[in-house]
Amino acid sequence: MKNLDCKYLGSCGSCVLNTSYEEQMEFKFNSIKELFSEFYDGEFEFFDSGITGFRSRAEFGIYHDEQGISYSMRGSKVKFIKIDECKIVDPKIAALMPKLLEYVSQKDELKTKLFGVEFITTKDEILVILLYHKNVELIKSELENLSLNLGLNLIARSFKKKLVFGSSNLNEELIIYDKSYFYTFGDGAFIQPNRSVNQKMISWALGCANDGADLLELYCGHGNFTIPLSFKFSKVLATEVSKASIANAMKNCELNGVNNIKFTRLSAEELMQAFNGVREFNRLKDTCLKDYNFSHILVDPPRAGCDDSVLEFMKDYENIIYISCNPLTLKENLKTICKTHKVIKFAMFDQFVHTNHIECGVLLKKLAK
Ligand SMILES: C[S@@+](CC[C@H](N)C(=O)[O-])C[C@H]1O[C@@H](n2cnc3c(N)ncnc32)[C@H](O)[C@@H]1O
Repeated sequence: MKNLDCKYLGSCGSCVLNTSYEEQMEFKFNSIKELFSEFYDGEFEFFDSGITGFRSRAEFGIYHDEQGISYSMRGSKVKFIKIDECKIVDPKIAALMPKLLEYVSQKDELKTKLFGVEFITTKDEILVILLYHKNVELIKSELENLSLNLGLNLIARSFKKKLVFGSSNLNEELIIYDKSYFYTFGDGAFIQPNRSVNQKMISWALGCANDGADLLELYCGHGNFTIPLSFKFSKVLATEVSKASIANAMKNCELNGVNNIKFTRLSAEELMQAFNGVREFNRLKDTCLKDYNFSHILVDPPRAGCDDSVLEFMKDYENIIYISCNPLTLKENLKTICKTHKVIKFAMFDQFVHTNHIECGVLLKKLAK
């Protein structure tokens, strides 16, 4: 397989690996295997990605000069680099980029003080977010025309203002082991950036959830893993800090006919306080934590990894499924977790092709006493 055929490779600050995909996979596989050799000497799995059109979410700057406006990225060698295409974004984004720029270029009201554009896609939908350094109320009718003329769900944002034209929610269908799962989520929430690899991650996590009693999930987002996994457990408690994500997670239960999940907005650290009896939360007033018999804990924390209180809590539970977007904090956390648990499965998910980043999945089992 050839290297990514992109004139901006190595200079736009996004894609940096200028080698064939086989070499990229080998490089990542070997680096991770070496990094985690002290914790695991079994077989590592590697889940690959398409090498173009894989990013479901993308954000570009808007660069203004005497030629007009262009999309831009923060360059790796210069402050900004103008770009007119991106090979790694979902084809719906790639097709819309020139049309949107042409439309906006022709309308001074839309062009002036526009500094960024974000695109979010699902299987069938696209949402565009325009970012302005001026009050978007002042150009409301032009924005409405843009949304109508290009048939777009559009959000325009400026300081403390947000205008929505069409819908600000996206609808996703993911297929896991031939079964469809349906999700709705909003523009501000976290989503996994590579749709096809996300499906592989969820499938892998499902394979780690055998003989489940109850599941505890921390950092659950809008229920990306929770909904498919809920079918393997009798009850699920899932928590997350974002209010919007929890609201969508509840809708996602309805969309999938799931009624054994209790989603609650609590940070992981707050939940630990509740478990430890240090603090009571109104949001848990209808939940008896003692009623759960957790056989599995699933964590998918942000780049910083899990807090010490979470690591301390996990040590008593039989199975831990740890999804990580940062191998360095995963390694740090494993130093603690592996005092009580043993890694029995390790997988890599190449969500971020052409970069040095890689997502990891680890299944740990409690050591016999
Ligand atoms: C890597 S994302 C994973 C989300 C979800 N598992 C998914 O696959 O879409 C991490 C999530 O943790 C949430 N988060 C960040 N800090 C948190 C904290 N201290 N406690 C609980 N959730 C947190 C974020 O809002 C985000 O939804």
